[in-house]
Amino acid sequence: MRSIERTLLRSVMAALLLGTVLVSAAAYFTTLDEINEALDADLKHVAVSLAQYQDANPAGTRGRLSKPIEGPPDMDGAEIATATWNGKGQLVYASEPQSRIPFINGEGLTRVNVGEEKWIVYTARHREGFAQAAQRLDSRQIMARESAARILPPMLLLAMGIGALLIYGLRYGLRPLDLAAREVAGRSVKSLEPIKSEFLPVEIAPMVAAINGLMARLDDSFTVQRQFLSDAAHELRSPITALRLQLQVLERSTDVGAVETARSELRHGIARAQHLVEQLLQFARTGPEAVNKPLVPTDLNEVVREVVGAQALRAEVWQIDLGASLEQPVIAMGESAQLAILLNNLVENAMRYTPSGGVVDVGTEMRDGRPVLFVLDTGPGIPKEERDRVFDRFYRGEQSALSQRAIVGSGLGLAIVRAIADQHHAVVKLLDRIGSPGLEVRVVFPPADHFERG
Ligand SMILES: Nc1ncnc2c1ncn2[C@@H]1O[C@H](COP(=O)(O)OP(=O)(O)O)[C@@H](O)[C@H]1O
Ligand SMILES: [Mg+2]
Repeated sequence: MRSIERTLLRSVMAALLLGTVLVSAAAYFTTLDEINEALDADLKHVAVSLAQYQDANPAGTRGRLSKPIEGPPDMDGAEIATATWNGKGQLVYASEPQSRIPFINGEGLTRVNVGEEKWIVYTARHREGFAQAAQRLDSRQIMARESAARILPPMLLLAMGIGALLIYGLRYGLRPLDLAAREVAGRSVKSLEPIKSEFLPVEIAPMVAAINGLMARLDDSFTVQRQFLSDAAHELRSPITALRLQLQVLERSTDVGAVETARSELRHGIARAQHLVEQLLQFARTGPEAVNKPLVPTDLNEVVREVVGAQALRAEVWQIDLGASLEQPVIAMGESAQLAILLNNLVENAMRYTPSGGVVDVGTEMRDGRPVLFVLDTGPGIPKEERDRVFDRFYRGEQSALSQRAIVGSGLGLAIVRAIADQHHAVVKLLDRIGSPGLEVRVVFPPADHFERG
């Protein structure tokens, strides 16, 4: 798993390391340069002093320098050797005769090879000749490097200090994430109150707000589910109670006529309970929380053919003229199994509420760029004041009591239709028929570009 802390730490540490290396290198080389300059100045100082001494004490009056002049006390092995020459280039005096520093006719700093060794020499002119101060390049470089290297340990210490502070700062800065995670982990389905967000940093506030939103929706949906469950149980209770009563009649009655009635009502009751259970199942599969297959281009004519085919036999028994008006393909974004359930509920209603001899017409069309499914019947229609409520779960209208075939209804049919239509971003309209009694139901799907626009 990716960790923000580790990623940040890795890049920050890499930057710190690179910075330390660069800064240390720069500091080291600058210091080295400055030390070299100081040593050059030393060399010049010694040569010039020696020249001034020669001028102040002309030949004959001066004594010999008893020992070599040494550099500053901490310059181990970097002693300065001196020599004086007369105007003709003859050696007058050398502090280290064995090292044979050559005569240089001139003034200033020079590098010379003396045998195997490299020397750096400063030559100063005086009245009677030349004074030289010289140093072995090797030992001077070693010394200069050692001095310059002294600034590295403090740099390293500084870098380590900064690194430690960064690690601490990062841990401290990311702690609210931990706290928020613990808050969420402490939740149960029974405690869906929002996570307190006043003390959260702005970076994770949006995430916490999203989680809070989700929990609020979960809470709502739990409430809806509970309500549905209790409605469903309530609805199931009446047919089951009826069944038990009829069974008792059957068991106790000796009258042949009464037994026959009870048996027929028992059959009816069972049919009703079965219908209800099937509707409940359908409804459970359509809720907004149900996992649905993706919507794909679907020919609504295929759906009509399937549903009308499945209802043809029943239509014949009930003496309903069930027909389909199909033209060219009408394609909507949909899930064909769900659309079949939707249409089946509409067709069933149309056939149940239309008396024998009536006509039920099922079809598709494109209207204003929108695919439409429609079901027309010649039944009593739905009064205007009822048209909103008929979509409620378990709501049954006036017609349901009047129609013999509608007895098995559960009041879930149109609720299922509405739920499936919602999933398809479609609208269900209940309309009066023009120029004839009956109901027209239209399911209007969004235009083709609706899903592209998102
Ligand atoms: N085609 C129709 N003609 C007349 N009334 C209808 C029609 N379809 C539905 N209704 C009315 O709408 C109500 C709700 O329908 P529905 O949800 O399918 O429940 P059910 O059919 O189980 O009663 C019905 O009880 C009925 O009053
Ligand atoms: Mg119905």
